Parts: sequence; C-alpha cells; structure tokens
Amino acid sequence: MKILHVTCSPRGQRSESHRLSSNIIGFLLRSDPTATVINRVVSGDAITQVDEHYAESQQSSADVTQEGSIARSDELIEELQSADVVVIGTPMHNFTVPAALKVWIDHIARVRRTFNVGAQGKTSLLRDRQVFVAVASGGRFSGINPRQPDFLTPYLKAVLGMIGLHALTFFSVEGTALGPEAVAEARNKTDQALHAYFSSV
Ligand SMILES: Cc1cc2nc3c(=O)[nH]c(=O)nc-3n(C[C@H](O)[C@H](O)[C@H](O)COP(=O)(O)O)c2cc1C
Repeated sequence: MKILHVTCSPRGQRSESHRLSSNIIGFLLRSDPTATVINRVVSGDAITQVDEHYAESQQSSADVTQEGSIARSDELIEELQSADVVVIGTPMHNFTVPAALKVWIDHIARVRRTFNVGAQGKTSLLRDRQVFVAVASGGRFSGINPRQPDFLTPYLKAVLGMIGLHALTFFSVEGTALGPEAVAEARNKTDQALHAYFSSV
C-alpha cells in the first residue's frame, strides 16, 4: 500500500494538523506494516502558483507547453494517481483550506488529466480511493452552535469529488486557540474517534 501524506501548515511538523495526520498514518501502518509513505509538503513556497501557460491550457483543447506549471502538475498528478490512500493534514484558514493547499489543488484538478468537461458538466477521471482529511482549527466549526461557518469540508468534498475522490473521511482537532485544557480535551476526543474508526474497519 502506498500512502500519500499531504501537509500544508506553515507550522510544519510542529503543527496540530501534521500531528493528527501523522496519527492517522500510524493507524494505517499498524494495519499494513509494509505500506510506504510519500510526504508531500506543500506549505510556504514549496509549490508555486499555476502559471500563464497552465491557465491558458485550462481554457483550450490542448496543453500549450509541457514546461513550468504543466510539468509540476504532471508530477503531482502522477504522485496522487500512484497512491492507494491519501492523508491530508490541513489547518482551517479563514473558514477554508490554506492558500498553500489550494495551490496543490489547482495543480491536481486539471482538465483532460483528472476531469473532463462535457455536455453533462464535469466528469472525473481518477479512480476512487480512501482519503483521510485531518483538520486543525483555532475555534470549533462542527457540533451544536459552532460560531463560524465551515467552507473547508464542503469545498474539499466538492473539488476532490470532481476528480473522482469520493471516499473522504474527516477527523478534526477543533479549538486549538481555546487554551491547553481545551486542546487536551479535543485531542482526546479525536483519539477516541480514531480508535473507534480503525477498530471497526
Ligand atoms: C491565516 C489564518 C487564518 C485562520 N483562520 C481560522 C478560521 O477561520 N477558523 C478557525 O477556527 N481558526 C483559524 N485559524 C487558526 C488555526 O486554524 C489554528 O491555529 C490551527 O490549530 C492551526 O493548525 P496547525 O497547527 O495545523 O497549523 C487561522 C489561522 C491562521 C494563521
């Protein structure tokens, strides 16, 4: 089994989302110790935004060049295609995914490569596979009376679904800005959810 681990927090390996996504990978490795992990860090300037040629190719019937963002996109799509399981660690930034993760998505959600556009709208080109999403947020965004909207969950469902990835499972540590006790409680609740999930599969 090949696991693709995508992380995007500016806080790197110290981040809560990295901690949670690494925990998920720990469970996956326990169920398949021969699994390999590919770490794809997309934070900071790791991946530059899509370029002019890439943007032009999205509105024409062919790629205008095989260089620049198109080459980078090919590399990231092949990496995704070769993975059996994808684990995404992401903080919530302004109610949705950080800009760094959005840049990775702009590279992997590409017309003629991972989806097509036709009379029926957009049709996906990737085979489905399990995707785990590990979210960290300063406040709560789920449960009763969250005091903020959540565009992250529906956005990832829509955009990954567009390219064929529908089997999404979300775990979150919410309330990291609410003090050490709240963080400990949130981590504990999420650990229990992880144990319950992985002992039932
Ligand atoms: C630019 C920015 C925007 C943020 N926006 C939100 C937000 O909309 N909602 C929220 O609950 N927390 C927000 N936060 C707080 C982070 O989600 C929180 O600190 C989280 O634990 C960071 O996860 P990490 O350690 O994986 O980076 C924001 C943080 C930053 C830096």
